[in-house]
Amino acid sequence: MKGRKPVGVCVGELTTSEAEFISNQRIALGDYLELEYEGYRVLALVKEIKRLNRSLDDSIDPEDAEKIRQFSRGRSFFYGKLTILGDPDRRMFIPRIPPEPGTYIYEASTETLRKVFGKDDGTKIHIGHLLTRPDVPVFIDIDSIVSRHLAILAVTGGGKSNTVSVILEGLLEKDGTVLVFDMHGEYVNFAYEKGGSPAVKRIELALNPVRLHYHEFRIFANVDDSAYIQDRYLRRAFKETVEKVVNGEIQADQFWGHLEGLLQGWAEDEAYKDDRKSITGVLNKVEDMKEAYGELFALNQSPIVEQIEFGKLNVIDLSHVDEKIADIIVSHVLRNVLEARKRSVRELSGGLEFPLFMVLEEAHILASSTVNTRSRYWISRIAREGRKFGLGLCLVTQRPKALDSNALSQANNMVILKLVEPGDQRHVQQASESLSADLVNQLPSLNVGEALLMGKMISVPALVKVKLAKAKRSGNDISAVESWREYKKKLQQVNKELEDIFDPEF
Ligand SMILES: Nc1ncnc2c1ncn2[C@@H]1O[C@H](COP(=O)(O)OP(=O)(O)OP(=O)(O)O)[C@@H](O)[C@H]1O
Ligand SMILES: [Mg+2]
Repeated sequence: MKGRKPVGVCVGELTTSEAEFISNQRIALGDYLELEYEGYRVLALVKEIKRLNRSLDDSIDPEDAEKIRQFSRGRSFFYGKLTILGDPDRRMFIPRIPPEPGTYIYEASTETLRKVFGKDDGTKIHIGHLLTRPDVPVFIDIDSIVSRHLAILAVTGGGKSNTVSVILEGLLEKDGTVLVFDMHGEYVNFAYEKGGSPAVKRIELALNPVRLHYHEFRIFANVDDSAYIQDRYLRRAFKETVEKVVNGEIQADQFWGHLEGLLQGWAEDEAYKDDRKSITGVLNKVEDMKEAYGELFALNQSPIVEQIEFGKLNVIDLSHVDEKIADIIVSHVLRNVLEARKRSVRELSGGLEFPLFMVLEEAHILASSTVNTRSRYWISRIAREGRKFGLGLCLVTQRPKALDSNALSQANNMVILKLVEPGDQRHVQQASESLSADLVNQLPSLNVGEALLMGKMISVPALVKVKLAKAKRSGNDISAVESWREYKKKLQQVNKELEDIFDPEF
């Protein structure tokens, strides 16, 4: 570090992974420092920082405070803790001998940091810059987020969807193919063009009942599995009808007629007279189901997986369906996507021929820690098996505590923006080995768009200011004041027109 001025010095008990230091320079949380020892030049991250003045500790008498304040002015210093990250020139190797107390620490050079946080070599996404070093751009590795999944966590309004958008833009630039389960209809209008045409492909939300699992069908019909007699008749009618369609004995558009015909027949059959009430109950439920979800069913619909377009932002708009139905749709699609990727990897026909990155907003509803949803099962399966088949998951939530810890712990990569609730922080810390208590303590003090990034996607953990996405989404906060003002203007305009019409002078 010839010619460079140290900014501080190591003190206290030092270990191979952690060092304490004092400094009289202004050192910020998340700063990167360098130290040289045992023949290595090691990068370290400031994970805790305090500012203190030994003359002004909490034991002083309030009456003396002013006098002491005057003579001790300017005598404050910084005390902090470093996480030792490793030697950037030796693949972040961490020396096995700790640094000696008294070792100088230096501000990390821009050159070193740029080397560590990468450049776009065709496999990375530019996500923002280091929080404390705007001159150091930060890149994340695409293969890592697709193969090892990603969780994006923050309080409401913390900047989750903006982060998702930045990542989506980066993926689309590289011909990445994405499927977004759009719970709030935010991404349907994602204004992003690729080669002169819109990048968004809206997936028709139509399910062919013939392609549903019986369990999925049963949820639409609102037949509880504890209503076992109803369950038995519905299952039989469904299976027999699907078989007839698949064997070509009846046309797809005869599905409902055939299904109801079977139930009607049984209801009238003397042989089933003991179950007549239950069978009629099922018939009514099928009627209700058609009425409630009629437009969601399309008898000749090709599978949703076949609609997924390569290189596009494929969006399934779930903003119009309730949570129960969103759960069936998401699980249905996840199951089929996994199946299709497996076929493709095994070189069978009818597969999905390219890797897919899937974004699930409101992940705590779909993969809840308390409610046993169908999606939770498929999310966990893809989280576990996805990497063998090129299926990446991006779980986005404002309630990490309510997210299934199984799914969360499979997300090797994390973008954690502002998190205030201690329960949320604990839950995240438990799911991630590399998240220290010190870093967790910093999460409440982050501002919008400021995030802690960790995992395989980035070579060392970093506090980052995420850039603003270029594409406009719908679903940004509505300004009530502005909307009222605009509405008033509109009212005034209408009143004026009416006055003009009825003006006797006119
Ligand atoms: N990186 C950023 N830089 C500057 N402003 C940002 C950034 N990220 C988000 N914002 C601002 O904060 C607002 C909320 O961001 P965003 O919609 O991404 O939050 P969210 O966490 O998805 O919220 P919600 O929980 O409501 O879905 C945005 O409209 C934007 O103006
Ligand atoms: Mg959002």
